[in-house]
Amino acid sequence: MNKLKTVSRYADLREVSCGDDVLVVGGGGREHAIVKKLRESGAVGNVYGAPGNAGMNIIPTGLSATDVDGITEYVAAHENIALVVVAPDDPLAMGLVDKLTALGRRAFGPTRAAAKLEWSKAYAKQFMQKYGIPTAKYRAFTGADEAKEYIRGEQMPIVIKADGLALGKGVYICADACEAEKAIDEIMGGKFGSAGNEIIVEQFLVGYEVSLLAFVDGEHYSLMPTSCDHKRAFDGDKGPNTGGMGAYSPCPVFGTALLEKAARTIVEPTVAGMIKEGAPFKGVLYFGLMVSDDTPLVLEYNARFGDPETQSVLPLLESDLYEIMNATIDGTLDGMNIEWSDKKSVNVVLASGGYPGSYKKGCPISGLDEVDGGAQVFFAGVGAGEDGLVTSGGRVLCVQALADDFASALDTVYKNIAKIKFEDCYYRKDIGSKL
Ligand code: AMP
Ligand code: GLY
Repeated sequence: MNKLKTVSRYADLREVSCGDDVLVVGGGGREHAIVKKLRESGAVGNVYGAPGNAGMNIIPTGLSATDVDGITEYVAAHENIALVVVAPDDPLAMGLVDKLTALGRRAFGPTRAAAKLEWSKAYAKQFMQKYGIPTAKYRAFTGADEAKEYIRGEQMPIVIKADGLALGKGVYICADACEAEKAIDEIMGGKFGSAGNEIIVEQFLVGYEVSLLAFVDGEHYSLMPTSCDHKRAFDGDKGPNTGGMGAYSPCPVFGTALLEKAARTIVEPTVAGMIKEGAPFKGVLYFGLMVSDDTPLVLEYNARFGDPETQSVLPLLESDLYEIMNATIDGTLDGMNIEWSDKKSVNVVLASGGYPGSYKKGCPISGLDEVDGGAQVFFAGVGAGEDGLVTSGGRVLCVQALADDFASALDTVYKNIAKIKFEDCYYRKDIGSKL
């Protein structure tokens, strides 16, 4: 028996001999939540991660999520893999779905052309302007001098963004022209490589943020419950931006009227617009919204599930994720009745001290098997050490719970977090505190 099976029951390492095998590309908490939900499907056999983490079965070749040629070759040689789920932004932008589809294999996620909504902010802004989708006023620049000249006439604060993928670090909120000039120099000076060859200068919007995710099959869409991420490292929304320190779902402030408005003014024109662009979107489309004066505006598109939103949203899914993913690929979402629990879901991320900067790795993790009371644990930066589980990343674990109300869900999460130990562990104590 694999030693880790005795270390944590939260590791999904069961191997079965019937059902369709699935490969999930990625290795974070989001991917573990996808793996767990897929394993609830009666039609699914083994689910593997590439590169995965200690919570999942991993393919033996140790391929990274961005090794698109290696993954394509692996899938070509393994006919048992019935579906590849491409979860992170980079392999989508590198065309992994296109490569697998060209091989005649089933892949969940948008093509490189459709994922451009995420990998080029200049393209996304132009697209929104063309199809009348509400977003902040902006200008795009390829020259630093022109950009600096433009901001002199603009209101402060102002937002400067790198065009391309920048690990969530390419957005600068600038209080004055001096900060904005510094941001322009940093981005265009090569901090993010070619992702900073073009920049967006954008009006600063005031309001509250909501993540709205939808399954989109090219032509039809099905909305998931809304969610809310906590991007800053420390309590009170202080400290540097991270990949996300916790999330809850649904967002009580974003009621039915706003949801209908967002569907009509944002989701529908986006799906229809991508068809007109000749790049129909298939996969999960994530709308990062700012609600300003009761109007939802698009801050950003992501062409994938969010992390850590997914760790709160997917536990609410009562329908079969494997069936939904297949219907998304086949363009048959329209006929599906996708059911969601009306419970409240919360997750809190346990991170390594120092994250999002540098941090220690290889610290033993204890207490996982004391977790109870309806909490789930999703693994992220967790590796297999000589004697058990050890930390291997900045965001290490994510503890999630469902309840009839947010207060009970939060209580379950925080009581269980207190049982988990690793050196320099830190987490936010105020996730959902405004609910
Ligand atoms: P993005 O990657 O474009 O979603 O930006 C990251 C974060 O920066 C967002 O979640 C917001 O908190 C903030 N942000 C981005 N654009 C704006 C804007 N135009 N006005 C205010 N805040 C923004
Ligand atoms: N939680 C934000 C993201 O996944 O991009």
